[in-house]
Parts: sequence; C-alpha cells; structure tokens
Amino acid sequence: MHSDYLPSCHAWFNDYTSSFHSPDPKLEKNIDLKLKHTARVCDNISRIAKSLQLGQGDLALAEVLALLHDVGRFEQLKCYGSFDDRISTDHAALGLKVLNRAGILCSLPKNERHLVRRAIWLHNKYEIPETESPRSLLFCRLIRDADKLDILGLIVEHFEARSKNPNPALDFGLENCPGYSREAILDILKGRMVKIATLKNLNDMRLMYLSWVFDIYFPVTLSCIEERGYLKKLIDRLPQDSEIVEAVDFIMDYLNCRGRIFI
Ligand SMILES: [Fe+2]
Repeated sequence: MHSDYLPSCHAWFNDYTSSFHSPDPKLEKNIDLKLKHTARVCDNISRIAKSLQLGQGDLALAEVLALLHDVGRFEQLKCYGSFDDRISTDHAALGLKVLNRAGILCSLPKNERHLVRRAIWLHNKYEIPETESPRSLLFCRLIRDADKLDILGLIVEHFEARSKNPNPALDFGLENCPGYSREAILDILKGRMVKIATLKNLNDMRLMYLSWVFDIYFPVTLSCIEERGYLKKLIDRLPQDSEIVEAVDFIMDYLNCRGRIFI
C-alpha cells in the first residue's frame, strides 16, 4: 500500500461522515457513537496486529479496514434511524455500496482492494466461510476481534447507564423484562454464538454478548476483555439461576482451556 493511502482514507472518511451531523440530538448521539466506535476499532486493530508482529504495510491495511468497516452505519442511521440490520439493511453491504460510489478503494492494488471488501462484508456475518484464503482469514479475524472488543465495552457501558441515559438503538427494540430464552442457553452450552434472531429480551442480549467469546480469535483480544472486566459486568446483570450459572461455567471453562482465567 502506498504510504499516502491511509492519510487520504482518513481525510475521505472525515469528509464523508461530516455530512451526517444532525440537529436532532438522538441522531447526533448515535453518529458520535459510531465515530468514536470507529476510532477505537482502529486502535484495537493496531494493538492486535502489533501483537502478531505484522509488517508496516499490513498494519496500514488493517487500519484502513477498521476505518471503513462500519461506513454503512451512517447512511443506515440516517435512512432507518436504527442499527438493527434485520429491520433496516445489512450495514456491511450498504458500506460497500458507499465505498463503490466514492471510488475510495480504486487506488488500492487489486489484491488489497479485494481483501478490504471481503473483510468488510464478513465483519458482521455469523461466521467466516471455511473456504476463505489464509490472508483473507487473517484480516477477517482482525476486524471481527477489534470490532467485538469495542462493542463489548460500548454495550457494558450502555447497560450501566441505560436507565438514566436510554438509547433504544442499542436495545434492538428488546424489553428489559425478567427471564431469558432456553435457546440462548443451549447455544452457549454447544460453544456457539447466540444468534440475533434468538433474542427475546435484554437478558438474551447479555447472553449473546457473553457468547461472543467463542468467536474471539486472538489471545491479545481475550486479554483486553479480561483486563476491562466486560464479562463480569455482563454476568452481574443476569438472573443468577441454575441454567445461567451452567452457561457461565461453560464459558469460564472454555476460557480456561484457552489459557485465560476470568473473574
Ligand atoms: Fe459493523
């Protein structure tokens, strides 16, 4: 990648997103949330990529990917007022349309352009196809880890503040009622991420975010999750009955097997 590309990409991103600022405080809050999310995903991806001792070119490519991965969120928010892809549109697909229209990826070499497009497309999918090339797999894993790490922080903060500072866009229209879905527990006990389609209330959502550890790939990402206490904060807000305890124990055993000791 040419050394000018990353700064020119930042300049384009700043210019593009500046047009979305809104006098509506609810919309502006979520535009700001996505700008800050993007900046932190850029920091996360550099931290993870440096732990892998990637070269300068790949570090810059990873940062470009982090900068552009959620570019579709701005149009999604403006058009639908929601972050829920189920009731609006797939924000990864929308982001790729935005990038095509802007032609921002055209100056990248073809292989890098393909890599960035592929990793943006896959950053929000349930899983990465087994047929992905090793290099594509690396960048997909980088963005998925960097993204999930930040979303976990953002969501934990949201759950701590939501009674005083509600943000329905982060609740996906779910109620904060007692109980949880058995399906979510069964997914966890099979070592699988809970799917968004399963969610019936905010406890299910907390279980889904806990289950994301099954998709975290790099040890440094798990270390960050551990240092920041995200899992404990999610667990503390769940009902403490035997099924939840069993699911939490399963997650802790999984993390112990990966050499992490949480809580
Ligand atoms: Fe995203």
